[in-house]
Amino acid sequence: MCGIVGAVAERNIANILLEGLKRLEYRGYDSAGLTVIRDGELHRERQVGKVQALVDAVAINPEFFDGHIGIAHTRWATHGEPAQRNAHPHVSGKIAVVHNGIVENYAELKEELIAKGYEFTSQTDTEVVAHLINDLYKDTPDLLEAVRAVIPLLHGAFALGIVHVDSPEELITVRLGSPLVIGVGIGENFIASDQLALLPVTNRFMYLEEGDIAKLTRNSITIYADGVEVSRKIHEIDAKQHNADKGEFKHYMLKEIYEQPDAVARTIEMAIDNGVTSKLREDFLQRHETQLAGIRNIQVIACGTSYHAGMVAKYWFENLTRLPCSVEVASEFRYRNPVVVDNSLVICISQSGETADTLSALRDTQKQTPVGLVSLALCNVPTSSLVRETDIFLPTLAGPEIGVASTKAFTTQLAALMLLVLKIGVTQSRIDNERLTTLLGELQKLPGQLFASLHLDAAIKTMSESFEDKKSCLFLGRGLQFPIALEGALKLKEISYIHAEGYAAGELKHGPLALVDKDMPIVVLAPKDSMFDKLKANMQEVHARHGELFIFASESSKMVAEDRMHVVYVPDVCETLAPIVYSVPVQLLSYHVAVMRGTDVDQPRNLAKSVTVE
Ligand code: AGP
Repeated sequence: MCGIVGAVAERNIANILLEGLKRLEYRGYDSAGLTVIRDGELHRERQVGKVQALVDAVAINPEFFDGHIGIAHTRWATHGEPAQRNAHPHVSGKIAVVHNGIVENYAELKEELIAKGYEFTSQTDTEVVAHLINDLYKDTPDLLEAVRAVIPLLHGAFALGIVHVDSPEELITVRLGSPLVIGVGIGENFIASDQLALLPVTNRFMYLEEGDIAKLTRNSITIYADGVEVSRKIHEIDAKQHNADKGEFKHYMLKEIYEQPDAVARTIEMAIDNGVTSKLREDFLQRHETQLAGIRNIQVIACGTSYHAGMVAKYWFENLTRLPCSVEVASEFRYRNPVVVDNSLVICISQSGETADTLSALRDTQKQTPVGLVSLALCNVPTSSLVRETDIFLPTLAGPEIGVASTKAFTTQLAALMLLVLKIGVTQSRIDNERLTTLLGELQKLPGQLFASLHLDAAIKTMSESFEDKKSCLFLGRGLQFPIALEGALKLKEISYIHAEGYAAGELKHGPLALVDKDMPIVVLAPKDSMFDKLKANMQEVHARHGELFIFASESSKMVAEDRMHVVYVPDVCETLAPIVYSVPVQLLSYHVAVMRGTDVDQPRNLAKSVTVE
């Protein structure tokens, strides 16, 4: 949620820190700050709002921030409102700390520190960490040792960056439940919550393990696990593949919507050779065939948009393989003592792979140790915690997704889930060759169909004008389009701030029909599928009550626009894969409504891209 950057170098590091923060701003954007050690002092600047406010403040006296070691932070408030006093770094004496995550026992620790005479200037849990290190440093004047002594006192999940004026060559970092990478340079080293922050300065990274504490100097990186020095591999990444520029697009979200044909094509190619429709690629999940052969039950755990992908997968698994599949939001699953039956495949879906609830839910299922449990991460970040902690990694090849509203991550999750359904179905002889051939053929048409659906952009933009002044909106779908209705509603509320609900259209007369009037737009996902006639009846119920319908329908549906009934035609697509294609119009609709209402599309209020706290 928050973003950390730190550097120790021969050159001045202020601009590296600020550029890193800009690249991390998707993680949190309530406030930002940095500290640089210069001439034996901590020079700190903190500003409420976007990183640009910090950049402007630093630019007033840039020479104050000329230094060779420093830490910086972009915040998503948990303890204490977004305010300058709560922005990081937090300082105690000569020590400065940046922190991502939550210290759960901070209240008790704070009381003890106040009793010792420490004064608190913020409402944060982080300030406790700064004072504790300061306190222990008095007895052990070695920064690494003092930090090491403090860690066992802290309960929760966190990552830290720490500097001390008296050790101006040392940057200390800790990873315990929140992501942290070390960027390896030549004569300089860096830390960050996400490697994306450091791509302008290095493409070589070490991924810390949970519990690692590291000391960075310009020329050395020393890592300790349980007090013992350990080595972590250096991974070299292709920076071009991690391009995070907006290019010619006004927003990351729009760029990412337009990247979907390519992203889905890349994801599908993991399992399908172009033009081959009779079989899956032999190397696709080949190592895991024995594990997948034993699966008798599927449990999907995820949050938000990733949860909606799981809902679609439930329809697919049960319909195509007849394997029972349950889907649950991780924040509920983890606290209700669920039964995980033997021979379950637990699929954790997460774009970031760092979502705290999803990770905890996974750990809880692993603690139950059911016989034959297999865990799988469906994730866009190969180096994430989720991937490390699961038996099988099924990647989505979406490329970095920066917009807080998930778009290409969702459609690539769906594509990868279909590949998994096919793999399990074939491995267990639950899907016959005819069906496999049909679906492989349809999957190969997907990138073209997604591309064609982008041509609806102008028509959807016009449609979106009707939503600008609305307060509330319903999204309806049936069958495989029900999760897309939920996803459409989530997209609209998250970026346009219009209240929106997704409903299974069959549920209309069990409640939501009471809301229908001329002021509430109703978006309907209406491909010509096996539920189409039932859905048409639901649309009539709305129309008869003066509701205004905005319908995404297949060209073959022959739906005709009339008074209070607007139709945009979506390319024809097979029923099974239609949710992937129908995701595009709801994304575009939300995008254009948000732009029209002037909201911050890529960084909507109160949200963050990577939800690393529960
Ligand atoms: C989607 O638009 C949201 N920003 C959000 O619901 C997101 O999908 C959710 O927080 C889960 O994130 P994850 O996929 O990284 O686990």
